[in-house]
Amino acid sequence: MFSFFTSDIAIDLGTANTLIYVKGEGIVANEPSVVAVQKDTRGAKSVLAVGKAAKEMIGKAPINIEVIRPLKDGVIADFDVAQQMIRYFIKHAYKKGSFIKPRIAIGVPYGITEVEKRTVKEAAASAGAREVFLVEQPMAAAVGAHLPVTEPTGNMIVDIGGGTTEVAVISLAGIVCSQSVKIAGDKMDEAITNYIKKKYNLQIGFKSAEQIKCTIGNAFPGEKKEFTEVKGLDLVAGIPKTIEMNSEEIRESLSECVGGIVQAVKAVLEKTPPQLAADIVDKGIVLAGGGALLKNLDILLREETNLPVIIAEDPLKSVVVGIGRILEDIDLLRTVSLT
Ligand SMILES: Nc1ncnc2c1ncn2[C@@H]1O[C@H](COP(=O)(O)OP(=O)(O)OP(=O)(O)O)[C@@H](O)[C@H]1O
Ligand SMILES: [Mg+2]
Repeated sequence: MFSFFTSDIAIDLGTANTLIYVKGEGIVANEPSVVAVQKDTRGAKSVLAVGKAAKEMIGKAPINIEVIRPLKDGVIADFDVAQQMIRYFIKHAYKKGSFIKPRIAIGVPYGITEVEKRTVKEAAASAGAREVFLVEQPMAAAVGAHLPVTEPTGNMIVDIGGGTTEVAVISLAGIVCSQSVKIAGDKMDEAITNYIKKKYNLQIGFKSAEQIKCTIGNAFPGEKKEFTEVKGLDLVAGIPKTIEMNSEEIRESLSECVGGIVQAVKAVLEKTPPQLAADIVDKGIVLAGGGALLKNLDILLREETNLPVIIAEDPLKSVVVGIGRILEDIDLLRTVSLT
């Protein structure tokens, strides 16, 4: 009788990372949203690798192997591959009780279209879900960050992922005002790549750009300048080359993206009803998503808004932890899941 409920699964299907949480077990999968597909000589496709192993292949695979990121800008761009990816993660993460079809709650960007909702639901259903619930990611992130979302008080959450940055003010278990912009981790990696290409005529790969961002990238000047070696292909000489770059250059390359995120936060603050704005003045802005880890982004937002800014504990996990918590609270699930 009780095992009936143990098959509940929460999924944060992100542009960059997919996380799976099983009720009673915690996070059972945390992998890049990447699939490597191999084509045989007759053109038939088969899945070669999923997650970390597939991400390792980005930019390194021969022509018969295609490395695919099935989500773009927070939504499913390649349905078949996304479906295979979800199925793979569920199968590998969830061995117990596989005879019971699980209830699956899955995070979706705020304001997704009906077509997009159907795509996500079908992907989860085909992965074996008995029932599918959709939860808006800003709500999930807020719950995961321990914000009192059901109370009559203003909570501001900023979830900076790989594909989108979602800013929302939540009160009484609903999103009062929000904005979603397609400026997040991927755009930052792109900006770093373009900056290096333009300034140094050096072409670097996707993974190098991400690594530079995560090591010396920053949004606001810190105490000391940091340096890193950057390896790539010299576009003039046509041979591999190594250069040294510093954190100020990386900040400069990221300034447009970071500015876009600040603008989105300000736009939502402007739309916030005064009573809720007063709560935010006291409690501040909470940052979630991997982008929250960009060095000194909290300091920059504090400077720009004069509000307290707090980084959620373990920001990469806020959404999946939040969906998990919502799944465990049937009233909350009914209130916040999309119909
Ligand atoms: N220390 C760091 N500094 C800057 N960026 C980081 C850091 N760590 C991770 N990131 C970035 O965070 C992003 C991934 O965050 P997250 O897993 O929250 O995104 P996602 O949920 O998959 O995407 P989305 O919510 O947009 O669909 C990546 O772009 C990654 O490079
Ligand atoms: Mg996310």
